[in-house]
Amino acid sequence: MRLLVRFVLPVLGILGILVGASSFLVSTTFRRWTEKDMALRAELAANGAREGLVHYWRDSDRAAMERVLAQITRDERMVGAAACGYDCELIAVSPGFPPGFDCATVGKSVREPGDAPGIVWKWKIWSETIQVAGGRFHVTAVPIFDRGQAFGFVTFVQDLSYADRRQSTVLKYAAAGLAFFAVTASLLTVLVARFSWREWNVEMRRLLRGGPSHSMRPEFQPIMRDLRELVSQIAVEAHTGPRGSAWTAERLRQTLRQKLHGERITILANRQPYMHQKNPEGGVSVLHPASGLVTALEPVMRACSGVWVAHGNGSADRDVVDERAHVQVPPGEESYTLRRVWLSPEEERGYYYGFSNEGLWPLCHLAHTRPLFRDEDWAYYQSVNAKFADAVRSEVDSDDPIILVQDYHYALAPRMLRDRLPRATILTFWHIPWPNSERFGICPWHDEILEGLLGSSILGFHTQQHCNNFLDAVDRFLEARIDRERHAIIQGGRATLIRPYPISIDCPSRWAKLVAPVAECRASVFAELGLPPDALLGVGVDRLDYTKGIEERLLAVEKFLERFPQYQGRFTFAQLAAPSRTAIERYRDLNTNVEQLAARINGRFERAGYHPIVLLRRHHEPLDVFRYYRAADLCYVSSLHDGMNLVAKEFVSARDDDRGVLILSMFTGAAMELTESLVVNPYDLRQASEALAAALSMPAGEQEDRMRSMRLYLTEFNVYRWAGRMLLDAARVRSRDAMSHRLVNHLRPIGRM
Ligand code: G6P
Repeated sequence: MRLLVRFVLPVLGILGILVGASSFLVSTTFRRWTEKDMALRAELAANGAREGLVHYWRDSDRAAMERVLAQITRDERMVGAAACGYDCELIAVSPGFPPGFDCATVGKSVREPGDAPGIVWKWKIWSETIQVAGGRFHVTAVPIFDRGQAFGFVTFVQDLSYADRRQSTVLKYAAAGLAFFAVTASLLTVLVARFSWREWNVEMRRLLRGGPSHSMRPEFQPIMRDLRELVSQIAVEAHTGPRGSAWTAERLRQTLRQKLHGERITILANRQPYMHQKNPEGGVSVLHPASGLVTALEPVMRACSGVWVAHGNGSADRDVVDERAHVQVPPGEESYTLRRVWLSPEEERGYYYGFSNEGLWPLCHLAHTRPLFRDEDWAYYQSVNAKFADAVRSEVDSDDPIILVQDYHYALAPRMLRDRLPRATILTFWHIPWPNSERFGICPWHDEILEGLLGSSILGFHTQQHCNNFLDAVDRFLEARIDRERHAIIQGGRATLIRPYPISIDCPSRWAKLVAPVAECRASVFAELGLPPDALLGVGVDRLDYTKGIEERLLAVEKFLERFPQYQGRFTFAQLAAPSRTAIERYRDLNTNVEQLAARINGRFERAGYHPIVLLRRHHEPLDVFRYYRAADLCYVSSLHDGMNLVAKEFVSARDDDRGVLILSMFTGAAMELTESLVVNPYDLRQASEALAAALSMPAGEQEDRMRSMRLYLTEFNVYRWAGRMLLDAARVRSRDAMSHRLVNHLRPIGRM
C-alpha cells in the first residue's frame, strides 16, 4: 500500500501528464507538416503538368486534359483532380474525383477581384483541410498561367486518412517510449537511492565501529561528529547505571562518584530551597519557596550533597545559621549545606528587584512588559554578583571544584568565578528563555552579560532555540570564534559548550508519595471550596507573574462559561497564586487586575453558593499544591512565555491515578515534551475555551492514555537525567582540561631547559 501511494501512483500521474502533453504536441506538429506537404505536392503536380494542360486547354481537348489529370493523380493518396476554367466552370476531371467539390466554391478562395487597372482577378494558391462525410480531405487549388495569361485553376483533393493513421502510430510509439523512459528512470532512481543508502549505512557502520578517520568521506564528517557524541553519551549513560535502569537519585550519586570522583557540588542560586520565617504568634516555620528552579534543583542537591549558596531573605534565616551562615537542610533529613548570603535592602532592590526582575526578566520573556535598565541597578548587579562569587569561592574545597551557577541573577558570576578559580568546572544553567539578538541588544550591558556567561565551561538552556539565540547574540556582539558544529564558543583559547538540557522534576515526585490518595484529596479540596460532589474543578498554580498569562486564563474561563452554558453552576476554577516580587509596581498592578477580573467574572456567573473563580492568593506549601493537582479534573497552564514550566510536569507527576487533563500553552518549553496535553495558544480565548470543554468531556479511557504516556515520559526524562547529563558532560570537560593541564606542566620544565 505504501509502495502504491509513494511510488506507483505518482509515477502514473506524471506519466499521464507527460503522455497528454506530448500527444497534443505530436498531433498538432504532425498535422501542420502533413498539410504543408500536401500543398507542396499539389503545387509540384500542377507545375509538372502545366505545359501539357495549357496545350490541351488551348485546343479545348477535354479528353486529353482528363488523361493528363488521371496521370498526375495516380498516387494512392491523391483522390482526384479537376481543371476549372477562368469563369470557374468545370473543364475536365480525373476519375475518382469526389462529388461535392465544385469549381465555383473553390473559385471564391482561389481568386479575388483585382485592385489595379487592367487586372480583373488576382489569383493565389489556396489550400484547406475539410471534413466531409467519409473522412478528412486536403484540398489545394493551383492557378494555371501561361505567358501571363490565366486559364483557370486545377483543384487537387488528397486523402488525409493515411496521415491520421500514421499519426496514431507515432502517438502509440511516443507513449510507449515515454512510459518506458519514465519507468526506467524511476527504477534507476530507486536503485541509486538504495545503493547510496546502503553505501551510507556501510560507511556509518564502519565509522561507528571505529574505522580509520583518514578514510572518512568529507560529507560524512558533520553527521559523524553528532552521531559519535550521541553514541558516546548513550554509552556513558549506559555505563553509569545498572543495565536498562532509568535515572534516579541513586544513579546520579553513582555518576558523581564514578565520573567525578565524588566531588562536592556547589550550587549558586538566588532563591534558597528553605526559608525560615518568624511566625506572628512566635516560633519559626520553614517554607518551601515557590520557584521552578527550587523544584528542580532541590532533589538534585539531596542526591549529590554539597553546598547551596543563596540569598537569605527569610525573617528568621539569621537565627538558625551558624557563624559561617550555614544551616544543614532539609530539616530533619540533613544531607547538604545551605549557605546564606545577606544582602542590604539597597542591594536587594538594585540587584534582585531592579536589574534581575525589572531588566532581565522582561527582556527575556515576550510578555509585553517593557524592560527597565537603570545605572544604579546595574552597579548593584555587578557588586552583588561579585559578593556571591566570593561566597562560592569560600565554600569550595579544591582549586578545580564543580560549580553550578543558576539563572539570570548571576550572568556575571561565571566570569568572576573563572578569575578566582581558573581550573573550576563551571556549569551555568539559564532557567528562562534567551531572546533573539535584536531583543537582547536592548540591554545596554549586553557585551558584559555575554562575557560574564562565557566564563562557564558549559552553558545550558532548556531548548535548542535558546541555544541558537545565544550563539547569534555572541556572533553579533562579541569577538569570539563560534564552532557551530561543536556548539561551542572559543575565547582566549578556552571553550564554552552551549547545550540544551530540558529541565524536569523528580518523577515519581516525593510529594506525590507523601500526599493522600486522589479520592481523599478530592474530598478535602471540595469540602474546602464548598463544592458539591458532582462539581467539576480546574486548577491553575503559579506565582503571580505577568508571564504566566493568569488574566488570559481567567478570560478563557469566562469565554468557556459563555459558550458552554451547561457548565455554569458546575465548573469552578481554583487559581492558586503565590504573591511574588510585590515590591515591583508591575506585579502589584497584576495583583489588582487579577483580583478585579476574578470579581467581575464571578459577578457575571455567580448564583447561590456558586463562584466560578476561586482566587487563593497566598503561599501554598508543596503538599497543598499536590492536593489540588490531585483533586482537579483539569490543570490549565497558560504562560505567555516560559522557559519550561514545571507546574505542567508536577501536575502530571501528581496524577498516579492516570486521570485529569493538562491544558498547556504552546509558548512553554514543556509543550515540546508533553505532547499528549491539549496544547493551546493562551491568547486565543476561543481555542482555550474549547480546550476546557474538551478536557471536561474527555472520556476516562482517553485521559488515561494521555496521562500514562506523559507519566512514562517524565519517569524517563526526570531531573536526575537532566543533572546527570550535565555532570557527564562536565566529566568529559574535566578530563580534557586535566589532560591539557598535565601537558602544560610536563612541557614547562622542558621549556626552561
Ligand atoms: C523563575 C526563575 C527562578 C526563580 C523563580 C521564582 O522560575 O527562573 O530563578 O527562583 O522564577 O522567582 P523568585 O524571584 O521568587 O525567585
